[in-house]
Amino acid sequence: MKTLLMIKPDAVAEGRAGEILALVEKNRFAIRRLAKTQFSRERAELFYAVHRERPFYQDLVAYITSGPVVAIEIESDDAVTRIREFIGATNPADARPGTVRYMFGKSLQNNAVHASDAAESAQKELEIAFGAA
Ligand code: CMP
Repeated sequence: MKTLLMIKPDAVAEGRAGEILALVEKNRFAIRRLAKTQFSRERAELFYAVHRERPFYQDLVAYITSGPVVAIEIESDDAVTRIREFIGATNPADARPGTVRYMFGKSLQNNAVHASDAAESAQKELEIAFGAA
């Protein structure tokens, strides 16, 4: 099964992508595709469409389009669950020590990484992040 792990713009801008990728490799996740890409507003709105009605949606779209992200396609058994355990809770303040968000997250919004929450969203998010081809 495949899933998307995405390093968010501030973490990329601050030079943390290498450290996060090293952790991905240390944990023996297979990287199938890797791309540095900047989301347009349209792509970001599609990507986060599930949050359209939430009060933080506009800020989230502005944040995710603020600079390039690093998209990582991961393949493993149970990839969605395993990657979500690896990154930790959405709010870095709640994330367990050793998780990516514990180490690199700064706030509920600026939480360093995104990972798909289900097989269906993984498929959709991989298409948006890497392009449909
Ligand atoms: P992510 O896993 O990318 O999914 C949605 C993103 O919205 C989340 O990480 C945060 O960056 C951001 N966000 C901002 N406020 C909230 C909130 N109150 N609850 C959940 N996510 C939030």
